[in-house]
Amino acid sequence: MYNYYSDELIEEVRINNDIADVVSEYVKLEKKGKDFFGLCPFHKEKTPSFCVVPGKQIFYCFGCGKGGNVIHFIMNAENLDFIEAIKLLAERARIQLPEGDGSGEQEKAALKREIISINTEAARFYYNNLNSRQGEIALRYLRDRGLSEQTIRRFGIGYSTDEWDLLFKYLVDKGFSEELILKSGLVIPNKKGGYYDRFRERVIFPIFDIRGNVIAFGGRIISRTADKSQPKYVNSPETPVYSKGKNLYALNLAKNSGQNKLLVVEGYMDVISLHQCGIINTVASLGTALTESQGRMLKKYAQEIIISYDADTAGQAATLRGLDILNDIGCNVKVLRIPEGKDPDEFVRKNGPKAMQELIENSITLLEYKAGILKNSIDTGTTEGKINFLNKLSDLLVKVDNNIEREVYIKKLAKEFDVNEEAIYSEIYRKMRPRSSFRKVTAADAKKESKKTEKVEDSGIRHDERMLLALLCTDNSVYKKVRDKLAGLEFTGDENRKIAQIVLARLEDNRGLVAGELLNLLEPGIADEFTRIIQQECNCEDNYKAVLDIIKRMEAFRLSKRQQQILQLLGNKSHLTEGDVEKLKQELNSILLRKKSL
Ligand code: CTP
Ligand code: MN
Repeated sequence: MYNYYSDELIEEVRINNDIADVVSEYVKLEKKGKDFFGLCPFHKEKTPSFCVVPGKQIFYCFGCGKGGNVIHFIMNAENLDFIEAIKLLAERARIQLPEGDGSGEQEKAALKREIISINTEAARFYYNNLNSRQGEIALRYLRDRGLSEQTIRRFGIGYSTDEWDLLFKYLVDKGFSEELILKSGLVIPNKKGGYYDRFRERVIFPIFDIRGNVIAFGGRIISRTADKSQPKYVNSPETPVYSKGKNLYALNLAKNSGQNKLLVVEGYMDVISLHQCGIINTVASLGTALTESQGRMLKKYAQEIIISYDADTAGQAATLRGLDILNDIGCNVKVLRIPEGKDPDEFVRKNGPKAMQELIENSITLLEYKAGILKNSIDTGTTEGKINFLNKLSDLLVKVDNNIEREVYIKKLAKEFDVNEEAIYSEIYRKMRPRSSFRKVTAADAKKESKKTEKVEDSGIRHDERMLLALLCTDNSVYKKVRDKLAGLEFTGDENRKIAQIVLARLEDNRGLVAGELLNLLEPGIADEFTRIIQQECNCEDNYKAVLDIIKRMEAFRLSKRQQQILQLLGNKSHLTEGDVEKLKQELNSILLRKKSL
């Protein structure tokens, strides 16, 4: 599946990174018997359901279902793709990987390095502008907004003059090619075949990646000179080193705050202002809704994520989306609301860091935030409105899976929104009771139902097949005994077929294959399921017998499928010759006989 590095090399990397060692760099593990347990890093939990099985070199979480070998663990924990995870683990185990093999990897890395050096050069250029005579107006603007010399330096803030191509010429002088400068996004081609600077007459904020490389820029219009037709901010486009939803502004600084909370705000100025007054655990998503990729970065550096976005409705929708994303990947999410519709920058400048800290302390949970929005969107002055509110509020509460937590919420919300606790409880109980099924079954329902069972059957057999492959990998000795029976076996679905091909070929060549290595072949999603099977189901008394049973079921499944097909064909005889009908009937007979003998 991944043919970038050879299978042998991937396996060497896997074997040389003991899973318990690697995981314990991320999770506090406790030994219980032969295995280790800890709090799952991939979802929120209070009691450990995450286990590492050194014997099989796998991890598995009983709570969220994530599982795999050490490579999948790193992919999940570090938010990396397979190749990147291999690189990290190879480095950890001091295994030399071949440098780029014609697939362009090396060229890509070189291009990235060059763009970063252009960006670094440009950042210096802008910074020097700010401190030149032309930059006076910008410097004054920043000073008026309360930024100190030291803050300006720390964030590398600069200025782009009003000339058309000053930066472009400067970069050409420095020896960068036009092609490369274009790729950096710093210039825009004009109609005459030349280039002009993207950022003109703006305060420039360099955007850094987590290691402090300059990967992009944002440019703010200076109010004094503001031309109303110009956007307030201009930002770098997507480039080989920058994609918008994959970065968080100032995370390179915030990650060193030594706190387990991160505050996420919307804009450059919010971050800079808060950092200046010592609240350095602050990052910005730069005006977009949070993405899952940003969520994972946040989760890596903090246990609690506090979002402080604009209270306007557009901001609210973005906040909600971001919050749900964070919550889904298991972050502990809170919301901070700034009074009087201010943004964090304005608030902290007016009220000082202490008041800001207090707001942070008092930030509310996701559920409380949603309840508040609900309350504002419904007129609870009327009976109808009250019922509607109660109904939607209990929808939120039903989703809280911890009873004690739910109780605390009910108490709090009942008081805050002036509704009766009992009324909330009874609403919740009503919703939690399974729906009664007094309903007339229609033909359409029946059809849907039969389709559903078909799917269930398919997924049943797919699972059987995976179990078979997992068993063969946990106990290679079985292969020889069932070899002949496996020969004619058909696997359903491309995925299983592909995996089976590899597994069976390996065992046929006497090269052996362990479960952990089987997982090398799998993308994270399927790896989860295989790991669950390996961990929970491959504990048979007699592997040989278990494999035989599965082979039987697979054979029976194949026969049933064919039987159905034949019956369908026979149901529409007009299309068939008599000879065909006869042949099909014979086949049907032999199928029935085979099925009996299974
Ligand atoms: N933004 C943007 N393009 C715009 C407007 C906003 O990219 N046309 C992004 C910027 O990253 C900005 C953030 O959204 O920092 C928040 O926007 P806004 O609240 O308008 O700006 P502030 O950061 O508050 O800037 P300032 O305080 O200077 O007005
Ligand atoms: Mn602002």
